[in-house]
Amino acid sequence: MDDVARFNIDRWQTLVEANAPFTRPLLNLDAETARERFDLEGLFADLTGKDVLCLAGAGGQQSAAFAILGAQVTVFDLSEAQLNRDREAAAHYQIPIQTVQGDMRDLSGFAPASFDLVYQPYSLGFVPDARVVFAEVARTLRPGGMYFFAMHNPFYCGLSEAHWSGDGYSLKLPYTDGARVSIPDPEWVYSQSEAASVPANHGQRESREYRQTLGKVMNSLIGMGFSLAHFSDTRDFTGDSEAEPGTWDHFISIAPPWLAFWWRYEPV
Ligand SMILES: C[S@@+](CC[C@H](N)C(=O)[O-])C[C@H]1O[C@@H](n2cnc3c(N)ncnc32)[C@H](O)[C@@H]1O
Repeated sequence: MDDVARFNIDRWQTLVEANAPFTRPLLNLDAETARERFDLEGLFADLTGKDVLCLAGAGGQQSAAFAILGAQVTVFDLSEAQLNRDREAAAHYQIPIQTVQGDMRDLSGFAPASFDLVYQPYSLGFVPDARVVFAEVARTLRPGGMYFFAMHNPFYCGLSEAHWSGDGYSLKLPYTDGARVSIPDPEWVYSQSEAASVPANHGQRESREYRQTLGKVMNSLIGMGFSLAHFSDTRDFTGDSEAEPGTWDHFISIAPPWLAFWWRYEPV
């Protein structure tokens, strides 16, 4: 295990202890809300019996939704603390969800062409080079299968609401692929005052992410046989340009923080 993985295990342990939103399982889903939440684009008409991999996607949100929709779900994640949340969701709904601990850069535990859908919530930037992950996804997806992922908007990666200068949000970091950036957790992730009780030796109060430039992301997927089925730079969030400057709502109305892609795997 390298430093990248070690850091993230500790960081996600801290976030689970702080009860951050993406570590809380969704325990009130039904088929309609599950679909509304995770298939916003309506690209998956019928998930019954489909093999779905929630990649670096533990926490008990996506796995529960796909299992409710009839899929055979495997969740793969570095953090046992996060995987425990999927186990809670599986017990709550009494549906089988397979949980596997590991690093998304190595999916060798899965046979080639194992999945119809690989669904990767925001996590790509936690490793220095997304291409390693893409190659693993290509190997484990069936031809015709779909790959969803959300990632930071590389143009704003490293910028946060804390960078309000009185006149705007100042971009200062070079647009360098693979460069490490640290982003302070917004207040909605967990209350900073409560965070004071998080043991100091965890120390992961700020994320450690790696900028993935857009050209690299898109061209490497195209080169591996993926074709773009849908793209969104405003999925699943809304900003408010009237909000107080220097707040999350104001910041994201100016600098959309996430990009979301659906790709179809069509190797020649
Ligand atoms: C923001 S959460 C995404 C999942 C969550 N269900 C959600 O909806 O936001 C990011 C996840 O990536 C996982 N992670 C970070 N680095 C990883 C790696 N190298 N391999 C696998 N999982 C990783 C974390 O443990 C965490 O569960």
